[in-house]
Amino acid sequence: MVPELASRAHMQNIVPVVDAALKTANCSLQDIDAIAFTQAPGLIGSLLVGTQFAKSLSLALDKPLIAVHHMQAHVLANLIPDERPSFPFLCLTVSGGHTQIVRCDSPTRLTVIGETIDDAAGEAFDKTAKMLGLPYPGGPLIDKHAARGNPNRFTFPEPQIAGLDFSFSGLKTSILYFLKNAGASNLYKEEFLADEETRRRFVEENLDDICASVQARIISILLNKLKKAAAETGISNLCLAGGVSANKGLRKAFTELGEKQGWKTFIPAFEYCTDNAAMIAITGYYKFQAKDFTELSVSPSARAEW
Ligand code: KG4
Ligand code: ZN
Repeated sequence: MVPELASRAHMQNIVPVVDAALKTANCSLQDIDAIAFTQAPGLIGSLLVGTQFAKSLSLALDKPLIAVHHMQAHVLANLIPDERPSFPFLCLTVSGGHTQIVRCDSPTRLTVIGETIDDAAGEAFDKTAKMLGLPYPGGPLIDKHAARGNPNRFTFPEPQIAGLDFSFSGLKTSILYFLKNAGASNLYKEEFLADEETRRRFVEENLDDICASVQARIISILLNKLKKAAAETGISNLCLAGGVSANKGLRKAFTELGEKQGWKTFIPAFEYCTDNAAMIAITGYYKFQAKDFTELSVSPSARAEW
């Protein structure tokens, strides 16, 4: 991703996108009650374009401005369909930049009770894909190969992290050595290093099984912590959110675990899992109800605190 190109693409697309959205929704700018926009986190150049555009609309139309946090919006994507989780619920939010367990007591009262101390789950997918020679973003491709592979063929370690936090950096290192050794061992052994051709052939011949085995480990890391969070909080409404929740293996394992544990489980439709504008709109809707408006002096933030 080239930040300047992303900003320029935002400049080019923002007016046509808003026009198309209004046309699809069959309404005019005058029908809109408030302007919600993504304030954080993200690429600052793109956030500046969106923030400035939202401020201009708010000023021109004399409608309130609502700042939305991207990660809160991922969680609230679960409130888009008619069948919604009741409060309180727990949400496992898994994206390219975040991995969090969020306790949600109301649409505007969200608390992060666990998160990754290093890589995000999406990064674990994308970095694994890169090591396997697959293009970015690798998550969807690993998902596709994993569906044809044997998840028990190779074993990758599960990190021992206290509490409800996650870690994916050890998994990444173990995959690196596993590939360096062309699958001879997935222990941290450096004495045998396969030559590049052997490694390439090994990956080519075993791609489906490697993807299935890595994916199974990522899923078990995520769901074991979620199970722990549910047990500790006594909450039985459980949700998924974020780009990685588009993963077919995770969706299936989450639903099956929910059945076993007696949870009520919720997963947003595919199009509301990866980054989308509807999740910003639904968050804006709840903030509008709470009259949680923003001053015109607001500026965006690249960082993730919320
Ligand atoms: O939430 P998102 O669309 O953007 C961020 O806010 O980061 O998440 C993007 C991440 C990427 O790491 C991508 O590889 C991953 O979601 N992803 C998947 C799948 N679809 C997207 N990971 C695994 N399986 C998928 N099917
Ligand atoms: Zn996202």
